Amino acid sequence: MTAIHTDAALPAIDSTELRRCLGSFVTGVTVMTTLDADGQPEGITANSFSSLSLNPPLIVWSLRLSSRSFNTYQNATHFAVNILAQDQVHLSNRFASSGINRFEGVAYTPGLGGVPLLEGCASYLECSLEASHPGGDHVLFVGRVQRIRVNDIKPLAYGNGGYLSVQSLDVA
Ligand SMILES: Cc1cc2nc3c(=O)[nH]c(=O)nc-3n(C[C@H](O)[C@H](O)[C@H](O)COP(=O)(O)O)c2cc1C
Repeated sequence: MTAIHTDAALPAIDSTELRRCLGSFVTGVTVMTTLDADGQPEGITANSFSSLSLNPPLIVWSLRLSSRSFNTYQNATHFAVNILAQDQVHLSNRFASSGINRFEGVAYTPGLGGVPLLEGCASYLECSLEASHPGGDHVLFVGRVQRIRVNDIKPLAYGNGGYLSVQSLDVA
């Protein structure tokens, strides 16, 4: 038997349920960093990061259109993906907070294009901005990976609306 549904026949998507559903997909946590037009560091916590292509090496993440830093990322030539380590929950919260200087007291070094690389992360991908694409109330930023660094530190995980720790399953 084949069930045929038109969109109109389906119930509307409840936004709370949609968030809950998407939240069951466990991710890592990144801080996307760049420089604004005045050369000031900018950073925002994002878990919408994903690999996109190996050859050429491309990654993607999405930023809310209403974000205060939207123009900065849209106009940036470079940005960095700082993949947070398990002991960096404070940085995730800090770079998701409004009304503070997010970089105050945060240790970082300049990477490609002067983009800040936060100290102590699990890994880093330094990117040039390849493209941006509209995506509903977000914009997708595609980065071309120019340089990477991987540290031997456990990454932080995020799922079901909270921070999680990564543990290997001992399966044969
Ligand atoms: C774990 C976590 C993941 C987040 N992921 C994203 C994301 O992928 N894209 C986004 O636009 N906002 C994301 N946010 C929200 C932003 O970090 C936050 O709303 C933003 O910093 C608010 O200030 P703004 O006006 O500078 O955007 C996330 C927040 C947290 C705590």
